[in-house]
Amino acid sequence: MTTGTTSISGLPTWTRCDRTAAWAALAGHWHAHGRDFDLRAAFARDPQRFRSLSFEAPEVFCDLSKNLLDVATVRFLVDLASECGLEAQRDAMLAGNAINTTEGRAVLHTALRAPPGAAPFSADVHGVLDAMLDFAEAARRRADAPAAGAAPLRHVVNIGIGGSDLGPRMAVRALAHVVHPRLQFHFVANVDGDDLAATLAGLAPEETLFVVASKTFTTQETMANAETAKRWFVANGGTRIDEHFVAATTNVEAAARFGIARTFGFWDWVGGRYSLWSAIGLPLAIAIGADGFRALLAGARAMDEHFAQEPVARNVPMLLGLVDVWYRNFHRFPTRCIAPYAEALQRLPAYLQQLEMESNGKRVDRDGDALPFATSPVVWGEPGTNAQHAYFQMLHQGSDVVPVEFILVRDAAIAGSDATAAALARQHRMLLANGLAQSQALMQGREGGSEPHRHFPGNRPSTTLLLERLTPHALGALVALYEHRVFTAGAIWGIDSFDQWGVELGKALSGGLLARLDGQGRTAAAPLDGSTAGLLAKLGR
Ligand code: F6P
Repeated sequence: MTTGTTSISGLPTWTRCDRTAAWAALAGHWHAHGRDFDLRAAFARDPQRFRSLSFEAPEVFCDLSKNLLDVATVRFLVDLASECGLEAQRDAMLAGNAINTTEGRAVLHTALRAPPGAAPFSADVHGVLDAMLDFAEAARRRADAPAAGAAPLRHVVNIGIGGSDLGPRMAVRALAHVVHPRLQFHFVANVDGDDLAATLAGLAPEETLFVVASKTFTTQETMANAETAKRWFVANGGTRIDEHFVAATTNVEAAARFGIARTFGFWDWVGGRYSLWSAIGLPLAIAIGADGFRALLAGARAMDEHFAQEPVARNVPMLLGLVDVWYRNFHRFPTRCIAPYAEALQRLPAYLQQLEMESNGKRVDRDGDALPFATSPVVWGEPGTNAQHAYFQMLHQGSDVVPVEFILVRDAAIAGSDATAAALARQHRMLLANGLAQSQALMQGREGGSEPHRHFPGNRPSTTLLLERLTPHALGALVALYEHRVFTAGAIWGIDSFDQWGVELGKALSGGLLARLDGQGRTAAAPLDGSTAGLLAKLGR
């Protein structure tokens, strides 16, 4: 059991939030002002509220004014950050200290978007980046003008799961309006053969490039899908595996054993869920080209600089992470809803689920001590306006309060042809009006009079993140904002946000169960619990 301020090699001295004086002060503030806070009264009291609680970061304007807090709350949260050593913890990460203490690793996804010479491992990073972007440009040329006698490249199939899938899948969709027009991108993740089979149907080997994306090159789902894809390739007349399969991995030897000649490497200090910026971004680089990918990195870098330099009180990712702590530990809200009012960001909630819940879904601190407070909320969501017609009922009138995060993009990505331009522009204004209306309705509520079922309680909090345009640069900044916000909450809670031991047990158990399903290992294996044995019997094993 550890008390007070602690020190672990790799990390500066840090103090877990609940052991600080600021935490006690925040608890007092919550009892006095927080639990009965009324947003409508707060706006009526303070005409400057929007101005004092909205903040600028690169590419992202952040309106915190519709949250259950005031300027005094922010001051208490900033004090908490200071007592927890948030800035020193950030600096340790950026310097490349081994802050992922349970795995003894540095956490340096920020180095992947730093200019040459500006961060650790620069020569390695830029060597791979240049090679990967050259390859991406060559692939785009194969789509435009194939070599004489060769088929044009038409399809790129990424085979990967978790962090080796969610980032590129999300970003290729988000930037669809600037994706190479003659290329189609497919993402296969699930071990369910339905995923791969449905993707391969209709593809021709000679027109297809497979990217096998796996940090470890051992993940069961990815290895199974890659092996089956190779069989399909050969069975359908494919001859040049070396030209049609490439890998993005830290395990170059395993990729070579698979038969892949062309591998883009990365390093153990890039976490899977932080790897979009590494070779794992290859499908995105092919999709948007080298300039687009460099713009994505530059956007993320701009956010890194903001995170590294702005004081906590104006540091947008830090403020968002601190509000997350305020909501989770004082208001005790169990979930947060992500509502991108941009169809292009349809995969962002899924991406953020891994980023946030795999990072901060922990129940012990870095010293291994059980936490007496809650950590990651459940993060969920769908794009607006679709979500309005599904679960917004519950957000407005349900028994739980769910903070909502609206993401609005000022300019539409798709302008449309002459015939549709005006109509699509109007639809974009409809989209924005809906996003604004929902946050307004959540806050204001409406009296139901004699009809309780028509009563909207209101006072339901939301944050609005506003982007001007969904460019590669803006997307890079937005994703980096989320990364640093997750870091902030994890640093305040004193947890290791960069390991993921919780995924191991199910993986291990599935090996034994697969042996039984394969018809082996029934007698030698340990006895099963009654439920699992019963279910296996139902499955005929
Ligand atoms: O689900 C656990 C996990 O290790 C994730 O953290 C990771 O993103 C995913 O599996 C895929 O791992 P790999 O890239 O090694 O195949």
